[in-house]
Amino acid sequence: MEQSHLWWRDGVIYQIYPRSFADSNGDGIGDLIGITQRLDYLVELGVDAIWLSPINPSPDVDFGYDVADYRNIDPKHGTLADFDHLVKAAHERGLRIILDLVLNHTSDQHPWFLESRSSLDNPRRDWYIWRGSPKGKREAPNQWQSVFGGKAWEFDEVTGQYYYHMFCPEQPDLNWRNPEVYREMLDIFRFWAERGVDGFRLDVFNQYFVDAQFRDNPRKCGIRPFDCQHHLYDTNQPEIQQVVADIRAVLDRYPERYAVGETFLPTTEMASSYSGPGKLHATFDFTMLKSPWNPARYLQCVLRQEELLPEGGWPNYVLNNHDNSRTASRLRAGRGDEKLKVSAAMLLTLRGTPFLYQGEEIGMRDIQVSRAELQDPVGKRYWPLPVGRDGFRSPMQWNGEANAGFTTGKPWLKLHPGYKTRNVESQRKDPASLFNFYKSLLRLRRMYAALQRGMFLPLHHNPQRVLAYLRQDAAQTILVALNFARRRSKLALGGEITRHQWEMLLSNKEKSQPSIDKGWLQLDGHEVCILLQKPGSG
Ligand code: NOJ
Repeated sequence: MEQSHLWWRDGVIYQIYPRSFADSNGDGIGDLIGITQRLDYLVELGVDAIWLSPINPSPDVDFGYDVADYRNIDPKHGTLADFDHLVKAAHERGLRIILDLVLNHTSDQHPWFLESRSSLDNPRRDWYIWRGSPKGKREAPNQWQSVFGGKAWEFDEVTGQYYYHMFCPEQPDLNWRNPEVYREMLDIFRFWAERGVDGFRLDVFNQYFVDAQFRDNPRKCGIRPFDCQHHLYDTNQPEIQQVVADIRAVLDRYPERYAVGETFLPTTEMASSYSGPGKLHATFDFTMLKSPWNPARYLQCVLRQEELLPEGGWPNYVLNNHDNSRTASRLRAGRGDEKLKVSAAMLLTLRGTPFLYQGEEIGMRDIQVSRAELQDPVGKRYWPLPVGRDGFRSPMQWNGEANAGFTTGKPWLKLHPGYKTRNVESQRKDPASLFNFYKSLLRLRRMYAALQRGMFLPLHHNPQRVLAYLRQDAAQTILVALNFARRRSKLALGGEITRHQWEMLLSNKEKSQPSIDKGWLQLDGHEVCILLQKPGSG
């Protein structure tokens, strides 16, 4: 029988980028105590779970995504005791905790790699992917490229061989074909699950294996060398299916544990093939995050997921994360937030788990960084190409005081200059703010089971301007109509439909009743209209 409430299916997950969320000790870097102090904020907002980007010890070449110890907390973020306290405080408030596990690669400072590189016969040599030159010359084993720039092979003078890295040279890939590595990786899940962690976000999980024969990728046209290859052999190998099954088996030994996989170079089809019963609970496909501002395109993303997910699978939707330009900047929201209210209403009323990213709820914009201010290895490598990710990671804007209330010290990355007016405190006071709109949406989602688990029934009229759909279960029918256009638009509901049959649940236009006339729903520019069908009018 279907479980009546599942936190990861029916709830909303909020991503915290710990470095930039809240700093409690004035060192300019966010920490676990800072997060614990802000838990009531997350309760007020109305989310159900938090995903923490990596907090393990890390030399920060890739800001936490280069791990030097999987079973500890980086001192800049706190201690294991701080973590236990955070988990306890979150659970007391009904919030779940999701950890980011970066198991494709370690830091080159991880003791395993230091051992591995020390000699050809070190017991951990085979824990990483080492190859000699093909013809005895000093030449990389094949033409594979790193997605962060340059060759994917780094020559190591100590033993005269190359090691493989999909990301920075300081992030050597683990060899998941080694049974000890495999066991160790699964054990990391147990370690954190025993500590009370509710779920895991698996960094680039479909990158864990590369071709055992190290075949060259076929070539294609592209801008960066990485884009000039079809990634047939250096990613997404068939062995992943067994891994996801084994991870699921570990998690299923604990009640209500969850795993969401970050799919590397995803398509919806590929991502869907790794999720569902016996596999990961969810996988990201990111098509919505890459979509232009066009309701027909968003609908297409939804229908693709609905179509391709296996039976028992559950969709998820993401509009923002730490790797991509924020919606406010990407969608050119301008100074106002009306467009962002439309995208928020879509994200939070679709059938699937929504993921929010810190600051999205107040419409934070990307910061502009000069070359001297660059921190992200991708930004540095490709400068002046605007592909760096610092812009999306600026500190959370809590209030209009010094450093937006993020830190009393010098922030590790600069703040957005607009923080004096755009911040949590000021938006809290404004009933028409984006923050209060997110709160209302989250409240609505909690109140109506139809918005959580109900069917998704698209309405296909006016698809270039309006995204409209019903969410329906046995008890309720909810109509969501979103006008993506700046101008007025209308939606045909059918001649029989009158406004007396519908109750306004949420509007961003201060309407208490929907504008329905002779079967047409009239929508103002960028209007969000969420209606509940009155009993007996179906
Ligand atoms: C995906 C993460 O989201 C990104 O931030 C990171 O740089 C790479 N994986 C490498 O771990």
